[in-house]
Amino acid sequence: MPTSVNLAVIYYSATGTIAEIAKEMSVAAEKAGAEVRLRKVAELAPQSAVEQNPAWAANVRATVDISLAEPEDVRWADAVIFGSPTRFGNVSAQLKQFMDTLGPLYAQGLLADKVYSGFTSTGTNHGGHESTLIALYNSVHHFGGVIVAPGYTDPAKFADGNPYGTSHTDANGTQPVHDVTRASARVQAERVVRFARRIKAES
Ligand SMILES: Cc1cc2nc3c(=O)[nH]c(=O)nc-3n(C[C@H](O)[C@H](O)[C@H](O)COP(=O)(O)O)c2cc1C
Repeated sequence: MPTSVNLAVIYYSATGTIAEIAKEMSVAAEKAGAEVRLRKVAELAPQSAVEQNPAWAANVRATVDISLAEPEDVRWADAVIFGSPTRFGNVSAQLKQFMDTLGPLYAQGLLADKVYSGFTSTGTNHGGHESTLIALYNSVHHFGGVIVAPGYTDPAKFADGNPYGTSHTDANGTQPVHDVTRASARVQAERVVRFARRIKAES
């Protein structure tokens, strides 16, 4: 009987790109045998901003059934995959705000020894894929987490080209998540489950 793995996929997405990748990862992780909690973080933008952008409003409607992330989801998890769109080359404020609520768990040492990984999307080709993921991983070092990046460990990674994590360029909303990104997402999710299982089995 393989060791059970609890995986939380926790994301922020305004216009749906990151939400699509998060779903792809969740399904792949379930197929790999993990118990998965797919969670979105709370919106911080004013309702008026959401309503002025049809893609943003549509994504809110499409993801209404996805529960909001709670610190308890991170405490429960053996592995956490965080997803955020690039915001000026950095992690979105919404995901960062959620991470800041993890302080009490951090203070008790309850963020340590878990597996963490991340994914992102941008509007443009060189718009901050890597800087966003590295910024995300800064916090994981403070958690005492184990970063499981995908590297170039699968042919799919040579296609998407980002060893730090799955990333997608949405061409400012005109390029939906495609097969190259989906394949990379599956490879990353499976790898995270595999390493979380090994670490859990040996601890
Ligand atoms: C405030 C803001 C800042 C952004 N900064 C960048 C950026 O630095 N580089 C980039 O390529 N795209 C940037 N974008 C575009 C988004 O990161 C991109 O469209 C992303 O794929 C959206 O993901 P989502 O559909 O999950 O919300 C920015 C968008 C917003 C609203």
